[in-house]
Amino acid sequence: MDNRAVPKKGILVVSFGTSFTDIRKRTIEACENRICSAFPGFEIRRAFTSEIIRKILKERDGLVIDNTVLALEKMKEEKLSQVIVQPLHIIPGEEFHTKVLAPVRAFQGAFDKLVVGRPLLTTIEDYRIAIMALDKQLPQLGDDEAVVMMGHGSAHPANACYSCLQQMLAESRPNIFIATVEGYPQLENVIPKLKCTKIKKVTLMAYMLVAGDHALNDMAGSNEDSWKSILEKEGFEVKIDLRGLGENPACQDIYIEHIKDCLKEG
Ligand code: CO
Repeated sequence: MDNRAVPKKGILVVSFGTSFTDIRKRTIEACENRICSAFPGFEIRRAFTSEIIRKILKERDGLVIDNTVLALEKMKEEKLSQVIVQPLHIIPGEEFHTKVLAPVRAFQGAFDKLVVGRPLLTTIEDYRIAIMALDKQLPQLGDDEAVVMMGHGSAHPANACYSCLQQMLAESRPNIFIATVEGYPQLENVIPKLKCTKIKKVTLMAYMLVAGDHALNDMAGSNEDSWKSILEKEGFEVKIDLRGLGENPACQDIYIEHIKDCLKEG
């Protein structure tokens, strides 16, 4: 039998990547494994967009992980007919545009079908679904308790996604706030809102696929400019939730749905 005659389909799961092995297993690999079980007829491949993380993993662990271009080149060589590229990114920001969309454009015509899935927060409906997915992860909150989530934030126009999410949260879950490390809003924009609503206890969590370096240091670290330290200095009792969104099965489901939407396209 000529195997080459069999049309092969693949899903390339693209994430920023992380250098923490345990965290990678709980978040990125958990998502990839769920996708693998959900689409049995597809080859599942991995790419990381962070060149720094790819380099660390190669040098430290001998673990070679492709970026988007390298992974697509292999899939082209193997003559896959259909490829879905599903980013695990949260917003359609800089990483998504330059490290996922742009490389994919260069491969147009290389496959019968090549489609890119949506990041977590893209359509208005995506936000509603993402908020319901958060419910599966968050504790029941008393009147004096709030959750402050740390988003990454970006200089890209898609940074506005965080304000959209905040607005939609405010409509139904008034004790959940989002601030970012590298964009707007910042923690200092959230603190007055916490004080205004008489919040005493704050749970900090990452609104990121992976609760890695930013969550461990900028959010939960013991250094005096960490969010934990700042909030404690402001008089709040602080709890830490160090789970990334990639650990939440309801968030994993969202990526599966975004792949299903790609399958419906042409
Ligand atoms: Co960063």
